[in-house]
Amino acid sequence: MRDDQITITHFIIEEQRRIPGATGDFTSLLNDIVTACKVISNMVNKGALIGVLGSAGSDNVQGEVQKKLDIISNEVFINANLRGGHLGAMASEEMDEIFPIPASVPRGKYLLLFDPLDGSSNIDVNVSVGTIFSILRGPDGAAPGLDAFMQPGTKQICAGYAVYGPSTMMVLTTGHGTNGFTLDQDIGEFILTHPDLRIPEETGEFAINASNMRFWEPPVRRWVDECLAGTEGPRGKDFNMRWIASMVAEVHRILTRGGVFLYPLDSKNREKGGRLRLMYEANPMSFIIEQAGGMSSTGRQRIMDIEPTALHQRVPVILGSKREVERLISYHEA
Ligand code: AHG
Ligand code: MN
Ligand code: MN
Repeated sequence: MRDDQITITHFIIEEQRRIPGATGDFTSLLNDIVTACKVISNMVNKGALIGVLGSAGSDNVQGEVQKKLDIISNEVFINANLRGGHLGAMASEEMDEIFPIPASVPRGKYLLLFDPLDGSSNIDVNVSVGTIFSILRGPDGAAPGLDAFMQPGTKQICAGYAVYGPSTMMVLTTGHGTNGFTLDQDIGEFILTHPDLRIPEETGEFAINASNMRFWEPPVRRWVDECLAGTEGPRGKDFNMRWIASMVAEVHRILTRGGVFLYPLDSKNREKGGRLRLMYEANPMSFIIEQAGGMSSTGRQRIMDIEPTALHQRVPVILGSKREVERLISYHEA
């Protein structure tokens, strides 16, 4: 390791020094999360060699088919974070109920929420997947119940994701900008490689699952139609489109070169409230995006202002480069 390289642990320690009265708990919690992501990264890399690809033959609480790696990653995340003594409880996309910390382990002040493997449909086809997490502060004293988790995104203390792509990267924010780290596989450390990520305000690129076009609401349809009309339309410029079907990969591209990601409300997902999960996907990604100068909205409301009513709540998501998200919001108002 070069002497000018900063490890994620040293970076977090410095961040923590800015918090008055910080005890070091937060740094330890982050270290446990980093360990979990390294283990998952290793398994994703090995894939078929260690027999982790394919379906688990079960559904999760949201009725989605679980992949073997969904379940394994969930267990890895729980086990890595169970014994540290920094957590009061955990919640995961892959578990029906919250996961209380057993009485045999000291109870800590933080709550950890995670999507252990995002973009599961891409695992078997060797396309980038990731892990998304969000940290909230729990109540003092009593063991936290479900109600302790019902906090808006603005209350997040930290949010991050690991993306398992050509390189494994970790991107996180504690509310002082968004920073990116690359895993050096030779030494097993995440090194700060993308300090202070900033999303360009203007963009000519967007991501949406266009197979849902006939279900979209008029504001989204209008905006996409105008983009597709290119130089001949009201926007007067050509747009480019991408759809990876891994939110982590999509958000990572936006942090790198700008763009807009939409999984909007449509007549197909309306009953469920949207497609993506507020607590494990929308809130952490919104925190990361906002801290990089981007914007995140349902089209009608800032995502981080939503008062959650259920653990597995779903919401519409429109996030990325500021000018286009603002335009989409204005189309929703019109
Ligand atoms: P998960 O694999 O955790 O269930 O999440 C997948 C999400 C998100 O990552 C992606 O943007 C979206 O679902 C893809 O949805 P479609 O399959 O409808 O394109
Ligand atoms: Mn997901
Ligand atoms: Mn998932």
